[in-house]
Amino acid sequence: MELIDAIRQRRTTNGPFEQRPVSLEHQHLLIEAAGRAPSHFNSQPWRFILIDDPSVRSQIATIGGRTMQQLMERGTFFQRYKKYFRFSEEEMEARRDGILIDQLPMMLKPFIKQVFSDTVLSLMSKLGVPSMLGEDNRKLIEGSPLILAVMLDKEEYIPDALSGFYCQLSMGMAIEHIWLLTQELGMGIQFISTPMEIPEAWQELKELLRVPDGLELMALYRLGYVPQDAKRNRIDWKSDQRKRLSQLAFRNTCATPEPDASPRSTV
Ligand SMILES: Cc1cc2nc3c(=O)[nH]c(=O)nc-3n(C[C@H](O)[C@H](O)[C@H](O)COP(=O)(O)O)c2cc1C
Repeated sequence: MELIDAIRQRRTTNGPFEQRPVSLEHQHLLIEAAGRAPSHFNSQPWRFILIDDPSVRSQIATIGGRTMQQLMERGTFFQRYKKYFRFSEEEMEARRDGILIDQLPMMLKPFIKQVFSDTVLSLMSKLGVPSMLGEDNRKLIEGSPLILAVMLDKEEYIPDALSGFYCQLSMGMAIEHIWLLTQELGMGIQFISTPMEIPEAWQELKELLRVPDGLELMALYRLGYVPQDAKRNRIDWKSDQRKRLSQLAFRNTCATPEPDASPRSTV
């Protein structure tokens, strides 16, 4: 696969993975790819936990399910991220960013546009949507043969110092190396982010993973091989839109947006 094709085809996998374990060879390749990322003064501040033990994965899944349900019940998730939700293909085409929830149980379809209103949020609670999403999230995580925890060395990672930014930047690059390589390996990857939204749950994860004081737990991902006939989740979204050249780039100064490339060019 050409690198530019890998970049253009890179996606987040929202759906379930095959049950089969991720080979040790592939696990080590993913860590090698991460370790090849650039870092300030080649400090390589990242550390990783390869989690394939069923009981540890199951405990993470329980936390993932519980936190998804809590966020839905509290409505905080929708309030916090409502600016990213799009409700039509036209809106996606116009904005060229955000996520479009295009897969929904019939009973919820009439309410999707009012999903941010307290009335609909409480109706969704009565309809059991938070526990349904919680259970879906728990199953997705439990069914993922590999979970990857990403940490930063606190020797390097000082949040309020420049090194804090440098560490996060290089961490992002290390994760992107992994994300790009997953395709080559027939794998997929998705953030497990709901525990990050609830500090007690994040602390619980640190204890479960026995993260030492010298390391900061930064992110968690679920990985696995992508099934040929992948079934979409009951509630699912798509986010394949990208901004145009003119929305992303300027020429020489910010006074001159870069014109969109002519249809003939490949950009
Ligand atoms: C900092 C960050 C947080 C993210 N959090 C989540 C998340 O909680 N759940 C999820 O499914 N994807 C998450 N993603 C993936 C984005 O939703 C995804 O990259 C974006 O919608 C574009 O879709 P794509 O990755 O398929 O191209 C996150 C990505 C980043 C960089």
